[in-house]
Amino acid sequence: MSVRSYKILTFGCQMNLADSGSLATILNSYGYYPAQTEEEAELLILNTCSVRERAEERVFGRLGELSAWKKAASTRKIAVVGCMAQRLGPRILERAPQIDLVLGTDRMFELPAYLANGSSGVNIHTEFGHEQLGDLLPARDNPYTAFVTISRGCGNYCTYCIVPYVRGEERSYPSIRIIGQIKALVDDGVLEIMLLGQNVNSYRDNGHDFADLLRRIASETEIRRIRFMTSHPKDLSDRLIDVIASEPKMMAHLHLPLQSGSDRILERMGRGYSYGHYRRLVDKLKTALPDISLTTDLIVGFPSETEAEYEMTLAAVEEISFDSAFMFRYSPREGTTAAQFEDDVPEAEKIRRLTKLISLQKKVSFERNQRELGQIRAVLVDGVSRRDKNVLKGKTEGNKTILFEGAVSDIGSICRVQITAADSWTLHGEVIEKC
Ligand code: SAH
Ligand code: SF4
Ligand code: F3S
Repeated sequence: MSVRSYKILTFGCQMNLADSGSLATILNSYGYYPAQTEEEAELLILNTCSVRERAEERVFGRLGELSAWKKAASTRKIAVVGCMAQRLGPRILERAPQIDLVLGTDRMFELPAYLANGSSGVNIHTEFGHEQLGDLLPARDNPYTAFVTISRGCGNYCTYCIVPYVRGEERSYPSIRIIGQIKALVDDGVLEIMLLGQNVNSYRDNGHDFADLLRRIASETEIRRIRFMTSHPKDLSDRLIDVIASEPKMMAHLHLPLQSGSDRILERMGRGYSYGHYRRLVDKLKTALPDISLTTDLIVGFPSETEAEYEMTLAAVEEISFDSAFMFRYSPREGTTAAQFEDDVPEAEKIRRLTKLISLQKKVSFERNQRELGQIRAVLVDGVSRRDKNVLKGKTEGNKTILFEGAVSDIGSICRVQITAADSWTLHGEVIEKC
């Protein structure tokens, strides 16, 4: 009996969530169907992340737990796809021999063909350049918001980062295809899109850049709200700032990874900008859009980072006053340039630096959110609170989660909500009107 029902377990970033959605659409088109639970599924697909060692350990931990699931029926199959499959290839079987398929970041979309060929051995495919996504619409959990991938891969080679190796060289999708996909999503009820790329600022299509793409999406489609990530500070142009400031469909939020407040560390990371450059970008952004919400990524304990250099990151967090941040301890990745540097900040010291940074950011986020009090924000209402089904939840223009009382019929609309309370992570408010 052949496998028919599947469940995808997604690890890692939003790009992986988007890829899992595309894979689900492909599988459904071949007659497979999503199972509600792992128990019901005949095929489990782990879409994996390699960005830090811990991300890979989480996947291996899950695979360990799944040994019993796999043994319970001889027809059950496990596929490991995405970044870890790409990085490790056959090596993944050394620690997880129960896997049936290992498909890299481009090859995962060929899963139905490998399932159909019925071969008894393990299928391992990791060559780049085979992804044929065509015009398909990725499956999604939320009816009102959708990811739209505008480019794949990355050509920046920051010295710590595995992404260029597991995702391949950067390639942009044609604007015409992106616009077509967004039109189809609008017809399907989507109000807000998140454009995805490892570095959206280097998007190129026949001489047209990312700012051109945004203008086209805003004028040629009926989409209500547009977001994007991730921006690289070295390529953030004045033209882009101008589009964000002048185009009402653009949401006032920018995720702009800083990584470190020290110029020497930024240089060693190969980031291509100084802290001064980053500061000037922030000044321009805040002049153009005083209400903009700024979020970032930060790494502590990069090889040779001194206490004084770490403190520059703390100072940057206070000076720029980020709305929120993803914060990480440096994790050496085999094959990257930084893996050749001595990983000389001891683990306990990395943990100390990270813990202190997180508590500083929590304080800064709290202060930033207090500035929201009394403001009226346009909120896309996308569901109910996990804790209390009588409370609605949504996202502000600045991408902050907000909870408020309202009618279930408001879900799927955009409401004006006045902010009445705020902690570090969440806003609370009252609906003023539907718009
Ligand atoms: N393309 C995006 C995101 C890349 S991965 C960008 O350029 O910003 C997301 C974040 O993980 C990075 O911004 C960085 O902060 C972190 N990261 C990447 N490699 C890492 C490593 N080896 N150790 C610790 N953090 C890492
Ligand atoms: Fe990694 Fe740098 Fe590319 Fe981001 S820009 S994915 S951090 S190499
Ligand atoms: Fe994303 Fe992790 Fe791959 S961050 S691109 S899933 S290595």
